[in-house]
Amino acid sequence: MYPTILAIESSCDETSASVIQQGKVVNNVIASQNVHQKYGGVVPELASRAHQQNILYVVNEAIITSGIQKSDLHAIAFTRGPGLLGSLLVGVSFAKGMALALGIPLIDVNHMEAHVLAHFIEPPTPVFPFLCLTVSGGHTQIVLAEDYLCMQVLGETQDDAVGEAFDKAAKMMGLPYPGGPLIDKYAQLGNSKAYAFADTNMPGLSFSFSGIKTSFLYFLRDKKREDPHFVEKNLNDICASLQYQLVKMLIQKVIAASRQTGIKQIAIAGGVAANSGLRNELKASAQKLGWTIYVPEFQYCTDNAAMIAMAAHFKFIKGIFSEMDVSPIANMAI
Ligand code: KG4
Ligand code: ZN
Repeated sequence: MYPTILAIESSCDETSASVIQQGKVVNNVIASQNVHQKYGGVVPELASRAHQQNILYVVNEAIITSGIQKSDLHAIAFTRGPGLLGSLLVGVSFAKGMALALGIPLIDVNHMEAHVLAHFIEPPTPVFPFLCLTVSGGHTQIVLAEDYLCMQVLGETQDDAVGEAFDKAAKMMGLPYPGGPLIDKYAQLGNSKAYAFADTNMPGLSFSFSGIKTSFLYFLRDKKREDPHFVEKNLNDICASLQYQLVKMLIQKVIAASRQTGIKQIAIAGGVAANSGLRNELKASAQKLGWTIYVPEFQYCTDNAAMIAMAAHFKFIKGIFSEMDVSPIANMAI
């Protein structure tokens, strides 16, 4: 039997709920939190409070727009981790309450596995084994997906996520949060060879973005000493040059992972997957190296409950459920 499942995502700053029926995602309701904008980043305590305010509305909306009754549900799924503990707690507690009230099982989902499984929401779907570069404000990983529920992390960041590097660099230039999309926008108008930034990646398949962030800070400090209006005058070129280097640091590792494993099925996920420079470089590498690439629709790249629902579907089929005393794990590994 293919189940009907309600899934909840609350790991960071999106409150989301989705219904999956017969293996097909029916909807993907997302409430984004604007409360963080003025602080230049996600404030964990404010995120938990906003989840508490949004969750009932979001879940209700997902049920109403799917046309199902609560009694049609076979399980409630939720994100167990990784994420902000307070935010995760809101989703976990809500899911437990609902499962208990309806007398149906709970399914806990690993947020990072779900990002990879987002590629199965809509065709074209990747063929196993494939590599997935998951890049967002909180994560930078290369995952080897051998099967729906069999994955291993081949490499990840040892410090900042690449989205965080985009956002912090944007903040240094006085751009609002989240700055990644703005750097992308200005980069498309600039010269990517105007300035050079050091490659601060680690050996092997590990990433590191804290070094380039610091060198960017000193670069701006020195240039602004010479000309206080340096950023305004050269914004497009600065963004293009920085984006070029960040994307290069990502693609280099994907090429290395592909060589190491012999896998040429390459997927990307996470908010930074929207970046035009990354998409272009991925396409160029695909042509050069004979890769088949997969980029999900943007609503399934950023944090969303549809990917949690998809992961829960595969777990339900395998009969993998959670106990009622399950608790969230902030640094949950794949
Ligand atoms: O997956 P996501 O919505 O949330 C998590 O962080 O989990 O990713 C958000 C991140 C932010 O850092 C944002 O700046 C970045 O994705 N982002 C981009 C672009 N669109 C979103 N970074 C670079 N270029 C973009 N076009
Ligand atoms: Zn995420």
